[in-house]
Amino acid sequence: MSIKEQTYIMIKPDGVQRGLVGPIISRFEARGFKLVALKLVHATPEHLQKHYEDLKEKSFFPGLIKYMASGPVVAMVWEGLDAVKTGRVMLGATNPLASAPGTIRGDYALAVGRNICHGSDSVDSAKKEIALWFPEGIVQYNTLLAPMIF
Ligand code: TYD
Repeated sequence: MSIKEQTYIMIKPDGVQRGLVGPIISRFEARGFKLVALKLVHATPEHLQKHYEDLKEKSFFPGLIKYMASGPVVAMVWEGLDAVKTGRVMLGATNPLASAPGTIRGDYALAVGRNICHGSDSVDSAKKEIALWFPEGIVQYNTLLAPMIF
């Protein structure tokens, strides 16, 4: 059964630099997910090392941290049915060369080391990542109220 979830989605520095913030946000909005947190952050290497803690033994880890700290990222939380799994499907495979056309990486990227976006890989990681990037908490609102004020 599908249940309402929250997932952490991040536009990486190359996505911001290439002007892909709008197109990426549009895809999540168009799909029907609800934006519940959003900010532009130039993260420190220490913060990024915490985010990618599970990968610290990998040979690409130092390069990954340098890339992620090279400019601001857009940190977001999106909410909706099966948000974690569906968010990953919308991003495409880790290696953009293996990503299907129609996915974000499949449409906009070629290199695994410049794959423009991140999405939580499980509900547990989503909880940890949301707490790490939004220690101040996220917004709660009812989408049905917005049109009623006009
Ligand atoms: P990973 O968590 O395995 O993938 P995903 O981002 O799809 O959850 O890896 C984190 C990031 O590390 C990945 O988005 C890009 C980078 N990376 C490399 O630079 N080289 C690699 O060989 C791999 C597997 C990942």
